Amino acid sequence: MKIVYDSRTGLGKQFAQGLGYSCQSVDETLDTMCILVTRNVGLGKIPKTTKQFIKDYSHLIKGIVVNGNKRYGRFYCGAGKQIEAEYGLSVIRRIEGSGTPADALFVKEFIKKVAE
Ligand SMILES: Cc1cc2nc3c(=O)[nH]c(=O)nc-3n(C[C@H](O)[C@H](O)[C@H](O)COP(=O)(O)O)c2cc1C
Repeated sequence: MKIVYDSRTGLGKQFAQGLGYSCQSVDETLDTMCILVTRNVGLGKIPKTTKQFIKDYSHLIKGIVVNGNKRYGRFYCGAGKQIEAEYGLSVIRRIEGSGTPADALFVKEFIKKVAE
């Protein structure tokens, strides 16, 4: 299991690195199943880099974490809704910034279940 991050300012990368698994960027080649930690652009839209990664590797994505900011109101983690609608993948957790210990625990428990 790897954690793949699409992170512009580093918060999602920080969350990814705290999970205790090998991490890499969406720009790198993937060879095993992963959890994708992504972010939002312009009012709940999916970053282009994430779209490309999903097109290339959707078969290896076991779950998605979306990293947003509640100040965006109804668009909070809106990219997650778009990903579910466009690609039929599941968002397992919405986090703010680099997430909380509870967010990390939740994702680690999820990984344990899917890796069994
Ligand atoms: C141009 C722009 C648009 C954003 N739009 C949203 C949004 O619609 N919903 C949301 O929850 N967060 C939005 N955000 C916040 C980012 O998702 C948030 O800052 C995230 O923590 C960035 O992650 P990163 O540090 O891994 O790049 C936006 C940020 C930027 C710069």
